Order: sequence, then C-alpha cells, then structure tokens
Amino acid sequence: MPSSSSPSKRPEVSVLDAAEAARVVAREIAELVRSKAARGERTVLGLATGKTPMGVYRELLRLHREQGLSFARVTTFNLDEFVGLRPDDPRSFRAWMRRELFDHVDLDPAHAHVPDGSGSPTTLDRECERYRERIRAAGGLDLQLLGIGKNGHIAFNEPGSSRDSRMRVVELAPTTRASLAAEFGALERVPIHGLTLGVADVLAARAIRLLAFGEGKRAILERALQAPIGPDVPATFLREHADVRWIADAAAAGHSR
Ligand code: GLP
Repeated sequence: MPSSSSPSKRPEVSVLDAAEAARVVAREIAELVRSKAARGERTVLGLATGKTPMGVYRELLRLHREQGLSFARVTTFNLDEFVGLRPDDPRSFRAWMRRELFDHVDLDPAHAHVPDGSGSPTTLDRECERYRERIRAAGGLDLQLLGIGKNGHIAFNEPGSSRDSRMRVVELAPTTRASLAAEFGALERVPIHGLTLGVADVLAARAIRLLAFGEGKRAILERALQAPIGPDVPATFLREHADVRWIADAAAAGHSR
C-alpha cells in the first residue's frame, strides 16, 4: 500500500533530544486518548519494549499522575515476546511492560495484550491467529510506537522479513540475541525464538511513530531512510506508510550540535 508521497524520497526526520521526543509522542498519545474517550471510543495503542520507548512511558505516567490522563478507555497490543518464557517470567516483555507502564496506570489488564510465547510451536501458531484476531476485533491499531534494531529490525522482524509477513514465530538474529545477553545473564540463556507481529501487521497501524536515539542507531537509521525498500532492512518498509513520523536525537540523525 504505497503512500501518496514517493517512498523513494528520503523521509524527513524530526530531530529532538530524547526527553523532548518523549514529551511530543506522549502528548500526541494523550490527545488521541482524550479525544476518542470524549466520543466514547477506545484508543488502540501498539506498544514496544526496549530502551527507546521508556521515556514515552515515563511521560505517560507523569501525565496520568499529574494531569489525570486516564487509560480506562485504552487497549494496548505489544509487538512481540520471547518464545519459551512464561508471561510472569521477569525477563518477559509482559513483565517489562507491567514494570514500566501497566502496573502504574488505570489500564484494565484485560485490555493490555502481550503475545504469550509460553506455548509449543503448534499452539503458538494458534496464539498468532488469536492475537491478530483480537487486534482486528479492537478495530486495528490507532498508533504504533516503534524502535529500530541495530540490524534494521522492527519488532522481531529480522532482516529477510517480507513486506507481507504476518504475526509468526521467528528465529532471533545473532546480533539481536547478543544485544540481550546482559539482560539474560549470558548469551546461551537468551531465547532463540520470538513471537512477533509481522511487517504487514505493523504497517496496518493507522499511524506509526518511530524513535531512534544515540550514536549506536545512526548507521541503521541512515539505511532505513535511504536504502532500497526491501527485506534486507525491514525498517525501510515504513517508508511506504502514509502516516509515519521518524523522530531521532541529533546523534542518531547524524547532526552535529
Ligand atoms: C528489541 C525489540 C524491538 C526494539 C529493539 C531496539 O529487539 N524487539 O521492538 O525496537 O530491540 O531496542 P532498544 O530500544 O533497546 O534499542
């Protein structure tokens, strides 16, 4: 589904420091949630884990505490989860989301969805179908928050993932596993597989906000913006989306200050 603007054109990047980026994105989410709630509608948010979105969650908590932002009419769907971890495992993305956001706001746990990676491969296929069906039933994702892996992955869509990939079990790339080694104590303990929304599922969100911070994301952000659109750098597919905003700090955007 190409957008009206030419996907081959280099997209614009909003250059903001991480704190400002967090405020801008959290404010946009808060406005969306409030305006939909005023019409009696739920807002459906696509959420990500990792260091990148932490500032947004912190800012949302502040808006909840200080300005009464309510999550009572919010439904969330996380992008991905590790295969082989129970949802209550402290290393799972569900546990991470509880610590960073879910446990601190008035979000109904029944509306806070994270894929369950604890089943066997056959039940996991069913979990993928169920999860996508739940997103459909909720009316689709209004806004997807995204980070980018150093190899260009979005969610766990590693290089090689196609434009039309759907939610599925994937093998994590060696670089992805290596970047998680510290959290798991050792590389051998990092799960080999993940459960992830596909590229097509991500692109189905009505709006996408991609964040990238720090020197370590500079080279891959450049490739995501410039490289030919294709599976080698899954983040390039975002250039085909009509409402994506690329937000990076000066280090990731390659701007000197
Ligand atoms: C993980 C997640 C991605 C995330 C990426 C970058 O593999 N599955 O959703 O965007 O890593 O993580 P970080 O934000 O910590 O750099």
